[in-house]
Amino acid sequence: MEYGIYIHIPFCIVKCIYCDFYSITDRDGDIPVFVDAICSEINSSATRFEDPGKVKVRTIFIGGGTPSLVEPKWIERILDLLASIYDMSSVSEVTIEANPGEAPLQRLKDFRSIGINRISMGFQSFQPELLKFLSRIHSVDDCFKTFRHARQAGFENINTDMIYNIPGQSNRIWKNDLERLIELEPDHISAYSLTVEKNTILHSMVKTNKVKMPSEELDIEFFQTTNDVLSNAGFPRYEISNFAKSGYECGHNQGYWRMIPYLGFGPSAHSYDGFKRWWNTASLDQYLQLASQNESPISGSEILSDNNKFNELIFNGLRMTEGAAIKELERHYQGLFRSYLEQAMIKWPQLLYKDGYLKLSEKGVLLADEISADLFVLP
Ligand SMILES: C[S@@+](CC[C@H](N)C(=O)[O-])C[C@H]1O[C@@H](n2cnc3c(N)ncnc32)[C@H](O)[C@@H]1O
Ligand code: SF4
Repeated sequence: MEYGIYIHIPFCIVKCIYCDFYSITDRDGDIPVFVDAICSEINSSATRFEDPGKVKVRTIFIGGGTPSLVEPKWIERILDLLASIYDMSSVSEVTIEANPGEAPLQRLKDFRSIGINRISMGFQSFQPELLKFLSRIHSVDDCFKTFRHARQAGFENINTDMIYNIPGQSNRIWKNDLERLIELEPDHISAYSLTVEKNTILHSMVKTNKVKMPSEELDIEFFQTTNDVLSNAGFPRYEISNFAKSGYECGHNQGYWRMIPYLGFGPSAHSYDGFKRWWNTASLDQYLQLASQNESPISGSEILSDNNKFNELIFNGLRMTEGAAIKELERHYQGLFRSYLEQAMIKWPQLLYKDGYLKLSEKGVLLADEISADLFVLP
């Protein structure tokens, strides 16, 4: 049985105006007690399995929040505990997220020495005024310095996150940023379109007309520029927002998209065992309190019906260049599935079917959400 493991570290120095991931500021003092709580959650998770030693962990992702704020000795404690319960002999990728300027050289060296082999840095932009708009506290220089330090610390697999579709950003500025990024030679690039999430400051700024988001046409232009510039530079797209040098695709995220089970620990973390999904409270205080009472932090769960799984496989699969692995489904739904697929391919000529994978043509990718919504079956 193969699993991915996700650890959510919720601490941040500031809350960015666009971010709706669970994170909390001014609570660094709680890191030691938080680590105790996460360790007790990890210990309890072993009871889910008859023989946890037979659970093979494929990938570990330490995300947030800003995990680079946590001293390596605490991360090591978490990793050691996981290794004492689960089979870590085939772990291929251990990622940590870091903010530029918030991960000094020695800390990066220590992360590397405890077995972390991939680092993901949130650059977002090389334009000081756009970083300011996004309420990021790092400078453009911080991006280059932290990147250099990560290489110096021995990281051979570095991802950088960038954002387009920012108010005030032009396609030319975005192209320049991408070209500057390529010169730095990262191994993986995530390029996200800025989305306006409910319960963020950006959302209220847009609602009260203080800020106007770029038009849909410009968003598409940004996407096409990203595709062209990165694929010409040796970073083919393998998912709608993800580009990598060959062999550097993010195994952890591919696991999510292929619906491989995962265990999530920490506030707001989600887990999935192939049948059921469950998630933790998105409150650090509640998470700590429940741990102190030896209670579970799980705040909700759902059983995924076959149709739910089908919909998720299609949704995630059509966003990947490899497509959705529907061979299994074909077997499961037998004759019904073939006629369903034939009709879908008549309606959407952008759909391609080859060797058990359903995927979208180059142009069809822009319609990924619309087409997958149309393909959904009733839950
Ligand atoms: C949640 S952050 C965690 C890592 C780190 N704290 C950082 O900011 O890079 C992971 C990535 O999600 C991106 N992100 C968060 N909210 C977003 C949004 N509304 N639109 C686009 N990207 C977003 C961040 O900018 C970042 O690159
Ligand atoms: S984007 Fe990153 S740094 Fe900003 S609030 Fe979200 S998790 Fe924290």
